[in-house]
Formats: sequence, C-alpha cells, structure tokens
Amino acid sequence: MIEVKHLKKQFGGLTVLRDVNLTVNKGDVVVLVGPSGCGKSTFLRCLNRLEEPTSGEVLFMGQPVNDKDIDKVRAKMGMVFQHFNLFPHLTVKKNITLAPVKLGLMKQEEADARALELLGRIGLADKADTYPNMLSGGQKQRIAIVRALAMNPEALLFDEPTSALDPEMVGEVLELMKELAQSGMTMVCVTHEMGFAREVANRIIFIDEGEVKVDKPPKEFFENPENERLRSFLSKVL
Ligand SMILES: Nc1ncnc2c1ncn2[C@@H]1O[C@H](COP(=O)(O)OP(=O)(O)OP(=O)(O)O)[C@@H](O)[C@H]1O
Ligand SMILES: [Mg+2]
Repeated sequence: MIEVKHLKKQFGGLTVLRDVNLTVNKGDVVVLVGPSGCGKSTFLRCLNRLEEPTSGEVLFMGQPVNDKDIDKVRAKMGMVFQHFNLFPHLTVKKNITLAPVKLGLMKQEEADARALELLGRIGLADKADTYPNMLSGGQKQRIAIVRALAMNPEALLFDEPTSALDPEMVGEVLELMKELAQSGMTMVCVTHEMGFAREVANRIIFIDEGEVKVDKPPKEFFENPENERLRSFLSKVL
C-alpha cells in the first residue's frame, strides 16, 4: 500500500533521513520508534508530502506521491497529530465534514450523516455541535481520528497521538486505535506506548542514523534485539 524507496531528507546541511526503504502492506499496523530527533515525524510527513523529500520515492497504492492530486492522497492517507489540530472556530461536526465536502467527496447532508454515525461509534454523538475547546484531550483526539476516518481512508498515519494527553485519557485513544487495527485499517504509528506496540502492531520499526535499522514482529523486536543501539533505546523506554 505504501512503498518508500531510498527516501532522503535534508534540512539545509542536516541529513535527517539518509536512505529509508520500507514497504507497508494492506492491513499492516507498523509502529515506528527511535531516539528523539531521529526523523520519525519527518518520515511520516514525507509520506503525505507535508515535507518534500530531498530525493527518493514514495508510492501510495501504486502511484507516486507528488504535488499532483495531493489532496486526494491526503484524503486516502489520513494523519493524526500529537496536538489534534482541530479547527477551534468550527463545531465538532463541521471539523469532520469540512474536508470531504470541500473535496467534493460528499454532499453536506451525506457528510453530516456520516459524521454523526462515526461520532456515535465513539460515544460522542452528543458533542456534534460543541466546539473543540469544550472537550477533553482524549475526546479531541478521538474526534481527530474520526475526522480522518470520515474520508474513508485506506491508511492512517499517527504521530505520537497520545503524548499530549493526560495519563487517564491515553487508554481511550489507544482503545480506538486498537479497534481500527482490528478492523483491518493500515496504520503507521509513531508512539512511545510500548504496550500498544507489543499488543497491536504486526511490525515494529526502529529508525536510527537516517535508516530503518530493525523491522521485526513485536515478540522478536522486544525479546531478541540484535541491534546494539536498539538495545540501548529499549533499556531507556521499557
Ligand atoms: N522544518 C525543519 N527545519 C529544519 N530542521 C528540522 C525541521 N523539521 C525537523 N527538523 C530537524 O530534523 C530532525 C528530525 O526531526 P523529527 O521531528 O522528524 O524527529 P522525531 O524523531 O520525530 O523526534 P521526536 O521523537 O522528538 O518527535 C531534528 O534534528 C529536527 O530538529
Ligand atoms: Mg516527532
């Protein structure tokens, strides 16, 4: 579903991603980990072209991701951010329906119905006409996820979706992500939630020195880390 070939990203003289190669298959739940500053966010942002790669190629569903039709690519490859990025001046329902209506994927009525259905599924139908600042962090993030789902995406990218949340709200967001994973959604998640990685991911990837250094199923990843720097990383996060 997503194919990354020789991806390189520099910021001025700083090479963040040197040579990243990765294939994400339909239904994969990939958790990305690595030291702070190793380029995890940059990598996700290169997938949907929030950053322009310096060189290399990203293919999504067989098509090269470039500036052409980028809105359609982003609709089908949704992204969830650490700080939710809901529009504060729009109601919850409007946050969810804005993009699909603007892109011409749905009429307003259809999008409204879909928004209510999705909100119902996460138990927040009663918040449809509320503004984001009236919601808890966990509610905001679950709504941000629903907003991505409203586009009927083929894949979802998550960049530390729970790290801005109070601890008691982390669980509800991870639970929703787990349900999505179990429903077959293709997901690439940057997260420090190692319990989630162990339980839900089918692959865990360690990025270091601008490359994918380890790509293993969770059990092997945690129980038999051959890479010296991964061992050191795990000793700090576990
Ligand atoms: N727009 C930018 N301009 C210049 N440098 C940048 C830019 N974005 C990121 N960087 C640099 O690229 C490196 C990788 O940043 P990135 O945010 O991708 O790391 P990360 O692995 O997500 O880190 P963290 O775990 O702290 O979120 C860092 O050194 C950062 O300072
Ligand atoms: Mg980051």
